Amino acid sequence: MDASTLIPAQADLPALKSAAARCTACELFEPATQTVFGSGNPQAKVLLVGEQPGDVEDQRGVPFVGPAGKLLQRAVAEAGFGPGAVYVTNAVKHFRFELRGKRRIHQTPQPEHIRACNPWVAAEIAAVRPRIVVCLGATAVKALLGSTYRVTKDRGALMPYTGPGAEPETRALITIHPSAILRMPDDAREQGYADLVADLAVVAAAVA
Ligand code: URA
Ligand code: SF4
Repeated sequence: MDASTLIPAQADLPALKSAAARCTACELFEPATQTVFGSGNPQAKVLLVGEQPGDVEDQRGVPFVGPAGKLLQRAVAEAGFGPGAVYVTNAVKHFRFELRGKRRIHQTPQPEHIRACNPWVAAEIAAVRPRIVVCLGATAVKALLGSTYRVTKDRGALMPYTGPGAEPETRALITIHPSAILRMPDDAREQGYADLVADLAVVAAAVA
């Protein structure tokens, strides 16, 4: 089962968000606190897609507001986007985690979660109609571009986007996930961040 039966026809973002709040299309809804829908400029030229909400996002109900989100916001601004220029969302809308004592440890979503949740991100892309879809990391790549692409090999170049919600002129760009940068060893992190900013600057220049 996937979320497609829950999606209202011709839905705008507020309608999609309230429908997604009731989604039970995969088992991730149950242990998580809430659906974390996308947020940002509903007419953004650039739509960024991450993996899934983290611990902080799960509690606050807003994407990219935890540590990885702060890093992403800084990189987006440094790349040349003005405040409120972009729309951000995730390939999977519920936090997948494992309990260890009281700690909730992030777990990567499985292919069935990505598949179940795909109609939501497709509907967001169709509603926002961005010129460029940015895939942050491997889960977004799997959800939107398929398994032939690899983040390390294919990042940083604009390409045609033909995935869910695409229009004829839509393009895509793959870059590193901000959480991957946070996990890098100290001596690699600065370069990882610079790479993210450089990739986002390619996108900013293309829509300027
Ligand atoms: N990582 C993601 O992929 N998405 C978020 O919203 C937060 C962290
Ligand atoms: Fe629905 Fe996606 Fe949440 Fe699964 S992760 S219940 S498909 S919103």
